Amino acid sequence: MKLTFLRKRKSDRHRMYSAQDKDNLVWLWQRYLKQKTLWLLVILGLILLQGGVYQQFLKLTENGLRVIFDNGSLSDLLRVCLTVFFLFAVRGLVSYVVPRLSIWVASDAVQKLRTDLVSHLMTLDLAYFERTNAGEIILRLVNQAQDLSQFVGLQTANAVRDATTVVIVSGYLLYRSPLLFTAAVVVVPIILLMMQLVSKSIKDIMTSAENALGAYMNGIEEMSNGMRTVKISGQEQYERDRLVRATSIIKDLSIRLQSAQALILPSMDLVAAFAYMLVIGGGGYMVLSPDYDMDGAGIITFLLGLALVFEPARSVANFLTRLQANLVILNSVRSLFHEKPTIVDKPDALAEFDTGGDIEIKHVTFSYDPASPLFDDLNMVLPGKKITAIVGATGSGKTTILSLLARLYNVEDGEISIGGTPINDLKIKSLRQSFSAVAQDIVIFNNSIWENIKYVRPEATDEEIWAAAEAAEIAELIRARGDMPLGPKGSQLSGGQKQRIAIARAFLRSAPILLLDEATSALDQRTEDRVKGALARLSRDKTTIIVAHRLSAITHADLIYVLDVGKVVEQGTHEELMALGGLYAGMYGAQKESYNLGDPGPLAGAPTAQAGGGAGETSGDAAAETPEDAPDDAPDQAAAVKS
Ligand SMILES: Nc1ncnc2c1ncn2[C@@H]1O[C@H](COP(=O)(O)OP(=O)(O)O)[C@@H](O)[C@H]1O
Ligand SMILES: [Mg+2]
Repeated sequence: MKLTFLRKRKSDRHRMYSAQDKDNLVWLWQRYLKQKTLWLLVILGLILLQGGVYQQFLKLTENGLRVIFDNGSLSDLLRVCLTVFFLFAVRGLVSYVVPRLSIWVASDAVQKLRTDLVSHLMTLDLAYFERTNAGEIILRLVNQAQDLSQFVGLQTANAVRDATTVVIVSGYLLYRSPLLFTAAVVVVPIILLMMQLVSKSIKDIMTSAENALGAYMNGIEEMSNGMRTVKISGQEQYERDRLVRATSIIKDLSIRLQSAQALILPSMDLVAAFAYMLVIGGGGYMVLSPDYDMDGAGIITFLLGLALVFEPARSVANFLTRLQANLVILNSVRSLFHEKPTIVDKPDALAEFDTGGDIEIKHVTFSYDPASPLFDDLNMVLPGKKITAIVGATGSGKTTILSLLARLYNVEDGEISIGGTPINDLKIKSLRQSFSAVAQDIVIFNNSIWENIKYVRPEATDEEIWAAAEAAEIAELIRARGDMPLGPKGSQLSGGQKQRIAIARAFLRSAPILLLDEATSALDQRTEDRVKGALARLSRDKTTIIVAHRLSAITHADLIYVLDVGKVVEQGTHEELMALGGLYAGMYGAQKESYNLGDPGPLAGAPTAQAGGGAGETSGDAAAETPEDAPDDAPDQAAAVKS
């Protein structure tokens, strides 16, 4: 079974044009070129005109030669010369217009293709981007799209021109002397055979070359993103070697590719020499023999025709071998369109729903990787307009639950509903609009802080943005930095500063459901207290879900879920869970212990009011219960900005 599959694939690959290639070409034509049919016909007409010029040139040359050899009228000769000049002037003009037009048609087609690629990418699931390297996407959108534009435009237009020249001039030669023509083309099958041989290896090499290029781009992107880690761990040499190895693979492949392509030209030269020999020998005999209607002018013209045909024929052969490489590229670009989004609106999806209702997770099964299921029959109720906390060890699935609520992934089984409406029945846009989130991994764009905050609600007024920035304790930094961009991925900011931008975004968006995933984990205690006060105000009348590592931060929650490797093991209020004396009470005790022992990290610089035991608990409660006091604590602001 497996073997037949392999064999089938192999034989398909060895054909010059597989069914897949044909399908891709038809797709390219129908989606991007068909609407330009009129212009393509104009181009074709001009190309035919160019081919016609050669045929006329040959005819005139033959006549011109007869003038010289036979009757010798100077005015006739002059007329022939002028006509030849005129013909080539026409050909020259067309040579300018055809590339102009074809580049225009091709650029337009490729712009459409790129637009479609970008639009399509936007529809794809998050999961696609989590399994695909950026390099592969860039390769398709940048390099391969550009390659295709060359191919669709100039390369193809030139090939059509050359093919037309070959056909027209060959036709004329065939008409002048079928016998000599047959002698000249008797060697053509050798060329075809050679091309067949070269084609399949070109395809294989090209596939490897494109993969190598993609890997190289991934390497560059990983290296530049991870430079901090590279430097700190002193792995510059390793990274350098890795990239240099990639470049040498690319070099080898590109040499192999061009060597394979170059095989075509010498074989054509050899074949041409053979053809000339046959024609000169055979033609010479025909001139000398009285049995044939062939004179000196005829044979010279025939040879000239062959010479004229030779260069275009070489180009066409070259084009056909390069076509193999372009087919690989076309297939690669089109493969992006084979990726289909799975998270899409139902046809009758709802735009309105009760955003303040309970969120219910019912019998949910989910896994990132089928081999290791994460949730199996997960059940939770997150009460509407209340604060629910989810705690648990790292990797227990807290972040995943938040992702599932926003339908970043589809559940495999079971259902999540908000206010009684299953989220799969909602318009994705409406669903996501009902969330503000401070994610665990914050994305900052290389723009000003202001623009980064505004990103989540572009229509917000300046006052609203300032208010959000003040609440998130980032306003001071905005005033200090002004419009300065933050560097790629916000690299010029500290973790705490990025986190405050994310919190400001949540304030600005102020959607009915608030998701806080370790939202204040990178803040120092004093800033955290103030920000938490503001967050507590923000979460009023909103369904709030807090994921926090520090349990002291969530003791005020209306409901706490304790998660352990994808399972809810305990649930209740802080007091209930403490009374239960299970996992939660154990974790809480351990954390309190470490704070009491004077763990300098989170408590450094914290008010001494926390003396008297339960420091962690006190700070958390204080933030939740007396939110109004905190933001007025002005003198601390400068210190907070520096964190
Ligand atoms: N995008 C992802 N693709 C594959 N596996 C993932 C992905 N995100 C998380 N995981 C895995 O799922 C499990 C739960 O992760 P997560 O929900 O982030 O845990 P937590 O937020 O509780 O630390 C972990 O084992 C993690 O390795
Ligand atoms: Mg997490």
